[in-house]
Amino acid sequence: MEVQQTLTVCVTGAAGQIAYSFIPLLLSGQVFGQVKINLRLLDIPKMETALKGVVMEIEDCAYPLIGDIQTGSNPKELFKNCDLIVFLGGFPRLPGMERKDLLQKNANIFKEQGEALQEVGKDDVKCVVVANPANTNCLILSRYATKIPRQNFTCLTRLDQNRAYAQVALALNKPLNSLKNIIIWGNHSTTQYPSIEHATADGQSFVLPDQGQFIERIQKRGAEVLNARGNSSVFSAANAVKDHIKDWFNGREDTLLSLGVLSNGEYGVQSGLCFSYPIRCLGAFKYEIVGNLELSDFSKQKLKVTEEELIQEQGLAESI
Ligand SMILES: NC(=O)c1ccc[n+]([C@@H]2O[C@H](COP(=O)([O-])OP(=O)(O)OC[C@H]3O[C@@H](n4cnc5c(N)ncnc54)[C@H](O)[C@@H]3O)[C@@H](O)[C@H]2O)c1
Repeated sequence: MEVQQTLTVCVTGAAGQIAYSFIPLLLSGQVFGQVKINLRLLDIPKMETALKGVVMEIEDCAYPLIGDIQTGSNPKELFKNCDLIVFLGGFPRLPGMERKDLLQKNANIFKEQGEALQEVGKDDVKCVVVANPANTNCLILSRYATKIPRQNFTCLTRLDQNRAYAQVALALNKPLNSLKNIIIWGNHSTTQYPSIEHATADGQSFVLPDQGQFIERIQKRGAEVLNARGNSSVFSAANAVKDHIKDWFNGREDTLLSLGVLSNGEYGVQSGLCFSYPIRCLGAFKYEIVGNLELSDFSKQKLKVTEEELIQEQGLAESI
């Protein structure tokens, strides 16, 4: 098949685990199809040798779609000319570390990377933040890269959405492709609200045998995987990054998607927070927030809880 286009993509945290699963999806055409990829791999200086190993493996795959590759630890070098940046790099939560410290460590990283974007980034670069706390990291990034349109900043809640689809399919004993419009609202955390209020199975609305259990399961699915595997979600996360970018790039008519995006006050959520909403992806990296769904009192209350957590996170991140 003919290669029609070239995109320059930077992956941060490129020596990490999710990157190791995501890069093969990107370079084998599963994200953008037959598009040539110039790759920029960013990690911290002590991962330099590990990055070299990643590059060797990329070479050894002999991907027809690979363009040039650059590695390094300076975002001001690697963010230049990028069309898309996937932010997987972040400070991990170490034993005994408080949430506040984690937020602030990551806020510092995203401040520095936002400043780099502002200085050297393309005006229309698209950003996907995965590193946790993903919503607040995304918000910080956008604050420091003000020349870039706010709708270009997104964070990953597609893993939560995929998890929700899978659990509903199991509960109803229906195929996944019979389901539509399951929505993740709010923060990628245990306060997120996975909602079936507007969802359908074979075109019909449905109830679950135990909605409370479903919500809690999705909210805590990350911990469930961690406990079982002794390691966090990796290939399911990389797969969700692939889905997020692919649908944002190509558009998707048949269902509502969930992405964390900067709020303009839809559903009464504080403007400026990075909040996961029902999103219609329109193609060519355009999307609209679907802002007119009727919400039950139950849903409104769930949105408030997750919004309050995001307001708190914003306050902590701002106190750096
Ligand atoms: N949003 C989601 O749905 C979701 C799901 C799973 C994981 N995550 C998050 O994604 C992130 C990556 O997960 P992982 O399993 O690949 O972690 P990992 O620890 O294997 O990799 C993270 C990488 O980031 C690098 N890094 C640290 N600081 C950096 C900086 N300033 N610049 C560039 N790179 C830097 C580290 O050296 C490491 O190689 C974590 O924050 C994790 O919590 C989010």
